[in-house]
Amino acid sequence: MLWLVPLFVSPQVVISQINAGHGTHVAGIIGADPLKSQFNISGVAYSASLSAYRIFGCEGGTSDAEIIDALLLAVKDGQDIITLSLGGPDGWTESSSSVVASRIADSGKVVTIAAGNDGASGSWYSSSPGNGISVISVASLDNTVISLQTATVHGATHDPIPYFELFPFPVTNPLPVFATSNDTTVVDDACNPLPDSTPDLTSFLVVVRRGTCSFVQKLTNIAAKGGKLTFVYDNGNGFASIEVGGFNATLIQAADGEFLVNQFAAGTPITITFPQTGGSIQLRDPAGGLISSFTSYGPSNDFFFKPAVAAPGGNILSTLPIPLGSYGVESGTSMATPFVAGSAALLLQVKGRSNDVARSIRTLLETTAAAVPSDHTEDALLQTVSQQGAGLINVFNAAHATTFVSPGELILNDTAHFRGVQIFTVRNADSSPKTYRLSHIPAGTAVTVTPGTIFPADGPVPLSNYFAKVALSDTTFTLPPGQSKTITATFTPPSNVDSTTFPVFSGYIQVSVRGEPPLHVSYIGLAASLKDKQVVDNTDVFFGVKLPVILNAKGDVQEVPTNYTFDAASGDFPSIFVRLAFGTPVLRTDLVDPNVNVNTTLNKRTLLGEPVLTFPNEYPGGTFDKVPTLGSLFELDFISRNNEKPDDNIVYRLPVNTPTFANGTTIPNGNYRFLLRALRVTGDPENESDYESWLSPVLGVFVP
Ligand SMILES: *[C@@H]1O[C@H](CO)[C@@H](O)[C@H](O)[C@H]1NC(C)=O
Ligand SMILES: *[C@@H]1O[C@H](CO)[C@@H](O)[C@H](O)[C@H]1NC(C)=O
Ligand SMILES: *[C@@H]1O[C@H](CO)[C@@H](O)[C@H](O)[C@H]1NC(C)=O
Ligand SMILES: *[C@@H]1O[C@H](CO)[C@@H](O)[C@H](O)[C@H]1NC(C)=O
Ligand SMILES: *[C@@H]1O[C@H](CO)[C@@H](O)[C@H](O)[C@H]1NC(C)=O
Ligand SMILES: *[C@@H]1O[C@H](CO)[C@@H](O)[C@H](O)[C@H]1NC(C)=O
Ligand SMILES: *[C@@H]1O[C@H](CO)[C@@H](O)[C@H](O)[C@H]1NC(C)=O
Ligand SMILES: *[C@@H]1O[C@H](CO)[C@@H](O)[C@H](O)[C@H]1NC(C)=O
Repeated sequence: MLWLVPLFVSPQVVISQINAGHGTHVAGIIGADPLKSQFNISGVAYSASLSAYRIFGCEGGTSDAEIIDALLLAVKDGQDIITLSLGGPDGWTESSSSVVASRIADSGKVVTIAAGNDGASGSWYSSSPGNGISVISVASLDNTVISLQTATVHGATHDPIPYFELFPFPVTNPLPVFATSNDTTVVDDACNPLPDSTPDLTSFLVVVRRGTCSFVQKLTNIAAKGGKLTFVYDNGNGFASIEVGGFNATLIQAADGEFLVNQFAAGTPITITFPQTGGSIQLRDPAGGLISSFTSYGPSNDFFFKPAVAAPGGNILSTLPIPLGSYGVESGTSMATPFVAGSAALLLQVKGRSNDVARSIRTLLETTAAAVPSDHTEDALLQTVSQQGAGLINVFNAAHATTFVSPGELILNDTAHFRGVQIFTVRNADSSPKTYRLSHIPAGTAVTVTPGTIFPADGPVPLSNYFAKVALSDTTFTLPPGQSKTITATFTPPSNVDSTTFPVFSGYIQVSVRGEPPLHVSYIGLAASLKDKQVVDNTDVFFGVKLPVILNAKGDVQEVPTNYTFDAASGDFPSIFVRLAFGTPVLRTDLVDPNVNVNTTLNKRTLLGEPVLTFPNEYPGGTFDKVPTLGSLFELDFISRNNEKPDDNIVYRLPVNTPTFANGTTIPNGNYRFLLRALRVTGDPENESDYESWLSPVLGVFVP
């Protein structure tokens, strides 16, 4: 079961506003009419007709069922392109909405879906339904400029201060500055109530440093002293729009904030004004042109190529509902996705609206995309394909290419299932002969697991320069008009890498013709076997106690044999508290005899919300079936790993809140244990050796 949310980046989410204007912003990226919009915003395909299918309420998320309904309705209505700026971390291609979206793409529709905004959580954490095998999963690239306002400093010499608003604050009188701390290194500025000595802040511009607590908490403390307008200065976290609830506040850059605080501390009587016209600037973003750090990393656990391509999605100016200001700058793979949907509309316009053209668009966009570096230094490695896909799309090149290369993706899989010999085809669709040169351009190898641990490395995922080697059957050749050539590429995974860091290697085979934009085929592989990756976190790193554990009614770890009454009113039932360091295709718990004789693999010791109950799947015949159990409590299939954020997805707490088997039959009163098993990725579900297992302490089912 997936909980899916709109994917725009909101550092501090205010639930009541989560969806506000999201659809309007996304629609403007495709459809804004440049002659009618105040900022001359040109939608990518503003002559396309748009339909919207509502699947969100005014707040919160949605479910696979609503998404599938909307997808099927869109197909029934004859839409050519279906775009979804939503998703949730998953790591597998198997969610219901992913599978339906993929089948719709196979049927000859273009389906573009956000790759996800979980880049901070590292690799193997791609979103569904973007994981759908044949859909176009879209990564975000940061805009090179940000449309912002500036404030003017009086009483000291300083350049105008950019603040993160599209429209000027409607303040016409000069304001003196008040800093909540004179220390420009304070980590928790204004996280606690301001001291009694604080003056009435009504007529000041308050300056506060970002960090530790939420923006809203700082602003609440400032408002308690009368503060009405606040500059929050950055602490190195990054210059971006911030979520400030109902307060008048905005982010400024660290250096500007430090300047204001130092002037205040020195007693310089400076004031700030907010020009109502002429204060807007296009600030150059130092991260402009790079993959947005928030873009989720693939590949999927079943080793599909996610994301597929990148498009601008960081700091995008587009339309908003009129009550929200008509225009605004927002960021997310939600913003990159409609850019690709619009590009697909242009390609259908140029090449014809047919199912075959629709099915070819992902390959066309992938092979004409440009690889993006990991930073702006001269010798920067290319960003891993597991975050940028085939790279930044170029719809002009896609529309005008006279050479076609396919497929766009070469998937080499892991070392145990290595497919090192790959073929692709180059076709000259021009009216004159062309001479082609092929070359290998490696991307940085993603070190996806932190050395010496079982935990995925958080983003930005470290890159290494240990590359794969590629032998090509031909490196230069000439093709007459209309002719094709099939090339064999033989890959050798990088040597000298530490396979326990699960290095994802990737890159491009570039296909160049003099005087034309180059094309490329993208490849990705793993220099390790996925079956070697430990799934269940059996450390005490996150909770100070070795996991998994059973939690009792009070939420305490069950240390000794304990009876549970399963009384709903008192909540007296056990919960399994389990963290997944990696995704698993099968997470299952069976009830066993307390004296069972099984050899478990994990620590021996004297889902969020409701579990998803499925009926037992017996995997007959294998060693799995030989383990003596009394019956299945639940089985969860294709489960995502957890991440490391306490308020997000750090752990699964799976309540066993009724004394019943998965099929609903009551468990007789008596003493038992839970046997938890997690299948390793690529493991054989019938083979007990491919599971990690854990046996709980003795639990009594004792229903009075
Ligand atoms: C929008 O375009 C019009 C016509 O090209 C131009 O006169 C105007 O200055 C532009 N406005 C902005 C905000 O760029
Ligand atoms: C925001 O500023 C307006 C005036 O510009 C003021 O009326 C309002 O009270 C302020 N809101 C808060 C929450 O301080
Ligand atoms: C900060 O500096 C101002 C101006 O010198 C001074 O009035 C104020 O007391 C200082 N605040 C603290 C907490 O030291
Ligand atoms: C990679 O190999 C595994 C194991 O055979 C398989 O289940 C998976 O589908 C493969 N991935 C791709 C993209 O072919
Ligand atoms: C558990 O492992 C021990 C030692 O390897 C072995 O002797 C025993 O037969 C195993 N028990 C089961 C039930 O597999
Ligand atoms: C339900 O499952 C339990 C445990 O596997 C089994 O003993 C029982 O017969 C099943 N009940 C039905 C109605 O299938
Ligand atoms: C079960 O898995 C183990 C370890 O992966 C392997 O050595 C063994 O051959 C497998 N058994 C069968 C029957 O496939
Ligand atoms: C639960 O209570 C029953 C009856 O007092 C007792 O026989 C049983 O051992 C208890 N089980 C546990 C796990 O404490």
